[in-house]
Amino acid sequence: MLRKVCLAAAIVAVTAQPLLAASGVDPQADFKAFRKYFTERFPKVPLNDFVNGPYSMDEGLRKQWKAIDEFPPYEFAVDQGKQMFETPFKNGKTYADCFPNKGIGVRQLYPMFDEKSGEVVTLDVAINKCREANGEKPYDYSKDDMAALTAYMAYTSRGKPMDIKIPNDPRALAAYKAGEEYFYTRRGQLNFSCASCHVQNPGNHIRSEVLAPALGILNAMPIYRSAWGGMGTTSRRLRSCNSQVRGTPLSAESPEYRNVEYFLSYMANGLPISGPGARP
Ligand code: HEC
Repeated sequence: MLRKVCLAAAIVAVTAQPLLAASGVDPQADFKAFRKYFTERFPKVPLNDFVNGPYSMDEGLRKQWKAIDEFPPYEFAVDQGKQMFETPFKNGKTYADCFPNKGIGVRQLYPMFDEKSGEVVTLDVAINKCREANGEKPYDYSKDDMAALTAYMAYTSRGKPMDIKIPNDPRALAAYKAGEEYFYTRRGQLNFSCASCHVQNPGNHIRSEVLAPALGILNAMPIYRSAWGGMGTTSRRLRSCNSQVRGTPLSAESPEYRNVEYFLSYMANGLPISGPGARP
């Protein structure tokens, strides 16, 4: 459904930038169609509330969440992440040396297109690049250390509007396009796309869970999930979403996952960072 809207919008849109027109990729037109779809389908949900995932869709859950958030289960991870963030590497440098604004309040800028490598760099990847550049071992993308560090960095960015740039560079546009295609492609034994669940069925139940809307779906990452009994990174979440459709999860931070993150985060531009989140 949305796919058709996007395509139609892309065809009628007057593209100012010749490269975009030539490539047939028009993120701005996709953005408008995506936002229109969600705001028209859920007219009662305030725009900035979509970033609260399942809670934006379900009043009962929302009440539970308000109660949980008084003693947030991710607090220990934020504290741990802060300590990790401030502890110098063996060479005396810190994470602050690798990031814009010394790494404080920058979560909303990721994923970022890196002109040097021609690839999409998520916050998690940027953290590991920083570690490796300073002679430290990279963290496992699915595990607690990475979740704690990104929880702290998200926490310092709370309320900042997502601000993803797609430079007029054919490689950036190709990455965006690949991410969009990954999002709408059906896969797994159940033959579901990401959109089958998060565009067509937000607010509906799948077993005991309420599906989050795709609009702003990454703004709350990383999340504490009671079902996991702990924190989970974006990679952990995407891998479990692939398993839900009895498909084969990709390796964490594979190009497909980074590109889909690039696409979805661009769709969320202007919506506030709400991470880290707490989920049932
Ligand atoms: C079979 C349905 C299904 C499919 C297909 C699916 N997911 Fe999910 N997804 C879920 C469920 C269930 C949850 C947990 C409840 C929720 O937050 O939606 C979830 C949660 C998420 C979350 C965390 C949202 C939050 O606020 O906590 C993200 C991000 C996400 N999915 C992304 C994706 C992406 C990207 C794809 C495609 C690769 C995908 N999902 C495919 C079912 C699905």
